[in-house]
Amino acid sequence: MSKNMVSVTIDGRTVEVEAGSNLVDASLKAGVQIPHYCYHPKLSVVGQCRMCLVKIEGMPNLQTGCTTQIMKDGMEVRIDDDEVRAAQEGMMEFLLINHPLDCPICDQAGECGLQDYSFKHGQAFSRFSYEDKRTYPGKERIPLGPNVVLNMNRCIQCTRCVRFTEEISGTGELGFFQRGSRAEIGVFPGNELDNPLSTCVVDICPVGALTSTQFRFAERVWYLDKKPSLCTGCDAGCNITLEHRRGKIQRYKPRANDEVNDHWMCDFGRTTFQAYDEPRLSTPKRRNGRGEIRTITWDEALTSIHHSLAHGAAMGTVGILARGAATTEEAYLLKLLADSLETPHRGGLREPGPERLIPTSNGGLVGSEITPNRRGAELAGLEAPSSAERTAKMLAGAVNGAHSALLLFDGGRAGLDNALRSPAALEGLRKAETIVVVGWATTELTEIADIVLPIATHAETEGTLVNSQNRIQKFERAFPPPAGVRTGVEALVDLLRKFRPDFAPKTVADVFGLMATELSALEDVSLTELPASGIQLPVRPQ
Ligand code: SF4
Ligand code: SF4
Ligand code: FES
Repeated sequence: MSKNMVSVTIDGRTVEVEAGSNLVDASLKAGVQIPHYCYHPKLSVVGQCRMCLVKIEGMPNLQTGCTTQIMKDGMEVRIDDDEVRAAQEGMMEFLLINHPLDCPICDQAGECGLQDYSFKHGQAFSRFSYEDKRTYPGKERIPLGPNVVLNMNRCIQCTRCVRFTEEISGTGELGFFQRGSRAEIGVFPGNELDNPLSTCVVDICPVGALTSTQFRFAERVWYLDKKPSLCTGCDAGCNITLEHRRGKIQRYKPRANDEVNDHWMCDFGRTTFQAYDEPRLSTPKRRNGRGEIRTITWDEALTSIHHSLAHGAAMGTVGILARGAATTEEAYLLKLLADSLETPHRGGLREPGPERLIPTSNGGLVGSEITPNRRGAELAGLEAPSSAERTAKMLAGAVNGAHSALLLFDGGRAGLDNALRSPAALEGLRKAETIVVVGWATTELTEIADIVLPIATHAETEGTLVNSQNRIQKFERAFPPPAGVRTGVEALVDLLRKFRPDFAPKTVADVFGLMATELSALEDVSLTELPASGIQLPVRPQ
C-alpha cells in the first residue's frame, strides 16, 4: 500500500483512499452514496446541511461525512443503518417544512437534489401544515444578473452559490442576508451576479432556487438526450455535456474533469451552440459557366474537386487550409491530401481571441484562441502560420498562378471566415481559379466558392481536439447530420480516395489508428482506449 493511502470500510465494502479524503468522496469509491447538499468537492467544507450524517464505529454520535477525514487505516462506517436513516428522514422533513411543492412548474424537476433525496431518504408524509410555510413574497423570480434568476422560496440555504463566488470566481457578489428562518441569499447592494462564470452557480445549486436565463422553461430535462462533448468556444477545451432534443441543442453543461476544467465552464461557452442556428449547407453545389451556383450530387462534387485540385497541382498551385475547429482526424486527412498534391501551401489557422480563464485546483485553465484545435491540426501536420498576415501570405502564395485551386476547410461563422472576412482578403482569394469550401454554414466564403461540400457540425460528428494544455481529448457524436450531409472525415476520405484509391481507413477510429502508427506522440493509443479525461501530450515549443 502506498504510504499516502489508507483503508476504510463503508457498509462492509473496504476501499483504499488517499489519506485526508472525506467520507462523502470515499463512499463514492466504495459504490455507496452518502446524501449531501452543502458539500461540493471543489468548494470549502462547511458541514451545515447535516444531510451526510453517518455512523462511525467507536464514536458516540452520528458524524457528518463531509467533515470527517480518513487519516488512518481501519475506520468502519455505516450508512445502511436505522439510526442513519432516521437522521436522513429527519433532515428531509426539516428541509421540506418550508419548501414549496412546485415540482410540476419548477425547472429543476427531474434533476433536483431535493426531489431525488425525498424519494430515496425522505418519508411519504409531512407533519407540518401547508398554511404555515414560510415564503418570500415577491422574491419568486429575481434576476441576480444577466444569466441567473433566483426563486428564494426554493432555496435550502446550502451556501454553495455564495462559496462559489468567493472561492472560485473570486468576485464575491453573493451573500446571506437576514437571520434564522428569514435568512436569504442575494447580491450585495449595487452589485449584480455578472462574472464570466456566473451560470456555474445554477449547476451547483442542488435545487431549483437558481435557474439559467438561457435555459429556463426551454425544455423538460427528462426529454433531453445527453452526450459527452467538448466546448469549441476557445482552445481551453472545457469538457461539457451536450444536451439536445431530437437534434436541437438546448444547453451545454460543464462535465467534471479534474485535469482540465474541474466542474466549470464559462458563460460564453454555454452560448456557442447558438452558432448552429446559422443557415445550413444541405447539399453539394457548384458554380456553372454563367456564375450561378447549382445543386449537384456528392459524386459530381468530389469528381469536380479532384479534377480542380489535380489540375492546379499539375499546372499551377494548390492551397489547403484547415480551420481551427477541424478535428485532429480531419486535419490529418487534409495533410494527407496536401501530401498527395505535393503542395507546400498548407496550414491550419491560429486566431487569437479574448482570454478566458477557468480557475481550477490545478492552477487554472486558459483559453486564448478562438481556434479550438489549432494544436491538433499542428499535431496532424498542418502548421498554423503565427499571424493572420502570415496566413494571408500563405494563401497569396497558393493563388499566385494561372491555374490555382484552394481548398478551405471552413468552420462557419465562428471559424475560418473571421480571419478572412475582410473584403481585401476575400478579393485576394478570388484570384484562385477554383475555390472549394467544405463547411456547414452559409458564409462569405461559400458566397465566393466555386464548389461547396456540406459537412456535419461539431455536434453531429466525433473525434479529438487538442487543447491549450496540449491535452488530446475525444468527444462523441450527439446526433446524426441531416440527410445529404456527410461528416468531415467521410467527405475527406471519399476525396482522398480519388487520389489514393487504395486508402483504406474509413471511420474516425480508423484515421486515429493511422495517426497513432505514424505520430510518435500518439504511439500505442487507440481512440476507444483514450481515457475520458484525455491524454497529456508533450508540450511543443511555441
Ligand atoms: S440558491 Fe441554491 S446554491 Fe444558493 S444557497 Fe440556496 S440552495 Fe444553495
Ligand atoms: S473557457 Fe473556452 S472552452 Fe471553456 S467553456 Fe469557455 S469558451 Fe468554452
Ligand atoms: S454535506 Fe455534510 S453537512 Fe452538508
